Amino acid sequence: MAKFVLPPNSRIQPGEHHPAPGGTSNTRLFKVYRWDPDGGQNPRLDTYEVDLDTCGPMVLDALIKIKNEIDPTLTFRRSCREGICGSCAMNIDGRNTLACTMAIDDIKGDVRIYPLPSMRVVKDLVPDMTHFYAQYASIKPWLRAQTPAPPDHERLQSPEDRSELDGLYECILCACCQTSCPSYWWNPDRYLGPAVLLQAYRWIADSRDESTGERLDDLDDAFKLYRCHTIMNCASACPKGLNPAKAIAEIKQLMVARQ
Ligand code: SF4
Ligand code: SF4
Ligand code: FES
Repeated sequence: MAKFVLPPNSRIQPGEHHPAPGGTSNTRLFKVYRWDPDGGQNPRLDTYEVDLDTCGPMVLDALIKIKNEIDPTLTFRRSCREGICGSCAMNIDGRNTLACTMAIDDIKGDVRIYPLPSMRVVKDLVPDMTHFYAQYASIKPWLRAQTPAPPDHERLQSPEDRSELDGLYECILCACCQTSCPSYWWNPDRYLGPAVLLQAYRWIADSRDESTGERLDDLDDAFKLYRCHTIMNCASACPKGLNPAKAIAEIKQLMVARQ
């Protein structure tokens, strides 16, 4: 998985150091971004020495241990702990990924943890996803059929049609790809970004959907779609192994085909 370097942020101050309890020998240092909107202070980087002998194997296990045993003020999102909900997405060791599926052993040296880049921070490791979700809603992510449903059964798909959704339906909307895309950093208000465009293609590719023309009309915009310059950070970042750049290329091909 490719790493990308976060821009240096001179406003991040060294923060508090929390040493491990005496008698522990197998420790790792976690450097964690902290910012409290109510504190009136610049962001800081707190360090925590974590006893790995009493900690689970994943970065999320360490964050939970820090919160439970060392510093209850540390704030982060998590829910499933299984790589399914997407809520624990953050920047770990220089890459956007899920804390619950990132093994501590796979990181060399100190474990550096920041919120997802380019989004406004709500507190500590919690990014503000409001704009991202609004962009997601804008592509109308639901089945839009024009014909009535069959009276006695669901709208069916052949196995072949169903397989067109492979590589798309697995997206958990974690925004790891979205916030690793330089084009999105530069135009977050106008470019829809890789996650939202992958989701847009998920509905275009669905044989049961009957609004492909409208969907393509909505995307046919110099900024919404065409700010993708195939830099491919998105595919490198996706913790589910998906390829948003490929989905974007499929949409562009459909645009060409209908001209
Ligand atoms: S391929 Fe497109 S969407 Fe993916 S990171 Fe590059 S510019 Fe962004
Ligand atoms: S494509 Fe991958 S990285 Fe992007 S939101 Fe979906 S699961 Fe997350
Ligand atoms: S806690 Fe759900 S994906 Fe990590």
